[in-house]
Amino acid sequence: MTPHPATPLRTIPPVDADLRIRLATLCHEGWEMWDRFDVQVRGEAFHPFVAADYDLILAALMPLQASGTRFLEWGSATGVITILADLLGFDACGIELDPDLVRASRELASRWDSQARFAAGSFLPTGYRFRSPRGDDRLGTIGEGVSGYLELGRSLDDFDVVYGFPWGGEEAMMLDLMARYGRADALLLLNEVNGGLRMYRDGRLVS
Ligand SMILES: C[S@@+](CC[C@H](N)C(=O)[O-])C[C@H]1O[C@@H](n2cnc3c(N)ncnc32)[C@H](O)[C@@H]1O
Repeated sequence: MTPHPATPLRTIPPVDADLRIRLATLCHEGWEMWDRFDVQVRGEAFHPFVAADYDLILAALMPLQASGTRFLEWGSATGVITILADLLGFDACGIELDPDLVRASRELASRWDSQARFAAGSFLPTGYRFRSPRGDDRLGTIGEGVSGYLELGRSLDDFDVVYGFPWGGEEAMMLDLMARYGRADALLLLNEVNGGLRMYRDGRLVS
């Protein structure tokens, strides 16, 4: 089982007290889901789902929260981060390739009375091909499937904030995807394998 940080309430910036408790409880439930997944699924065979540090993502999303701001999670897995975004007031969507995870995320959203929406499919738009300047066009752990944007009724450039958790070496592809299909003024948040979080706008690092 992978060790993970606890989610003490004090790590969450001050928002409404009830909301703080809901956010911390959801993070806790997310960690429990991840622990089960790690044993039951990843214990049997490789799966690309590894949970991010929910506290870190939450802290990054808090200052960006604004009602109606459109948030998209690439590879939303159990849906925890997309649902956190919805609870914060974002208009939140996730796209996930693994249908079992999509089912789990929809059930989680329903239990949390969340409006977060999840599409089953790929976060790669139809026809997208990664063209690396270095000539290495491999997609790493990123799988292929029917694009999920049609199901959401939105395209990538409809979103104001996009979040992804690339495995090592996949960051270039996510930056390329955002540069070619995202809006120039949108924020791209990338969780790093070593635990940090980088924020980009128009391909440039902003934090
Ligand atoms: C490293 S995990 C990140 C999970 C979650 N976003 C987080 O930060 O905790 C990557 C997720 O992306 C999913 N995935 C891989 N390729 C995908 C694709 N082309 N479209 C949608 N999801 C994909 C995997 O199944 C996995 O759940």
